[in-house]
Amino acid sequence: MNTTLINTVKSSFINKFEAEPVLIFSPGRINIIGEHTDYNDGFVFPAAVNKGIVAAIQKSESAESVAFAVDKNESIAFDLNNLKPSTKGSWQNYILGVISEIQKRHHTIGNFNIAFGGDIPGGAGMSSSAALENSVVFGLNTVFDLGLSKHDMILISQKAEHNYVGVNCGIMDQYASMFGIENHALLLDCRTVEATPFKIDFKDYELLLINTNVKHSLSDSAYNDRRSVCESVSEFLNIKALRDATVTDLNTIKTKITPENYQKALFVIEENNRAIAASKAMKADDLVALGELIYASHDGLQNQYKVSCEELDFLVSETKANPNILGARMMGGGFGGCTINLIAKSEVDAFKDHIAEAYKTKFEKECSIYEVKLSDGTHIINELKQ
Ligand code: GLA
Repeated sequence: MNTTLINTVKSSFINKFEAEPVLIFSPGRINIIGEHTDYNDGFVFPAAVNKGIVAAIQKSESAESVAFAVDKNESIAFDLNNLKPSTKGSWQNYILGVISEIQKRHHTIGNFNIAFGGDIPGGAGMSSSAALENSVVFGLNTVFDLGLSKHDMILISQKAEHNYVGVNCGIMDQYASMFGIENHALLLDCRTVEATPFKIDFKDYELLLINTNVKHSLSDSAYNDRRSVCESVSEFLNIKALRDATVTDLNTIKTKITPENYQKALFVIEENNRAIAASKAMKADDLVALGELIYASHDGLQNQYKVSCEELDFLVSETKANPNILGARMMGGGFGGCTINLIAKSEVDAFKDHIAEAYKTKFEKECSIYEVKLSDGTHIINELKQ
């Protein structure tokens, strides 16, 4: 955990609100494979990481509640009895949305103050938004003793995103952020919302993230659009979700749907199969097979599901001639953010130099490279190790 970040958020809270806060760490996530399968009741393979959001929170005696975004030096005051989505800014609705969902479930909270900061850039495809939502619901559950389970909390976070932010996301990000386990990835069944932890030790290999540092503007509407395509194909097939379909099932309606929608549904069915195949490859310590699945995932995201972009495709294509990289793909919702790469440890330094240079030459901007540790999910920060 980032002690500088913890100290900054804590002291900002104390300076602004003159009280001793409860501190929460809520991580971002990576996803090894299983993209856009979560809202199809399918399988995903995420892990929480050691980067995320630190929140400082405490009850207040004031007539209003206040949220303070330390990194942006912006704050918002609001009346708990008259909540509505904010029309300005970006981060406000993650907080207001969580409070609104708590209230909808008839839990009573009083006024409070919260300050937060993070060390994952927004738009990186590493779920800074789920990390923020989880930090808020976890913090409120703690200071107001609401008695919510972790499962309750992730559903509140997810609904906040649907109803206040307007993105009809699945449950992967909130789950991974809340339930992460140090050194483990989680094979999550998004229908039962239960996961099997896999200890991750890739021996001579590791996962490396490369951030395009772009986030194309249509991403939220394109995301919702993909989700409704999946729902309409499921309805056509008369099933609950695409998780219940095989390729053979899909082929029975192939001539009745558009070729584009056929490819999108096909991608989801195949990606779901890949997530399960990846768990078998990992059990068998077969990193070559895992890498091939990761490359196939990118190919489908790019060409069938059409949620990639030029920058992501370039980063992936640059890995293909390198025998020390077993797999690479875009990660998260798409249209920007990071690629995830399964790379030999011995190759990391040379590849970092190569890709930084190549990306800059091609796009005249920098990419960012992250090595992350797999970490525990949302929790209270008990003491600061200096
Ligand atoms: C975003 C959403 C998730 C998931 C991914 C794509 O991160 O929040 O629910 O759908 O995109 O796999």
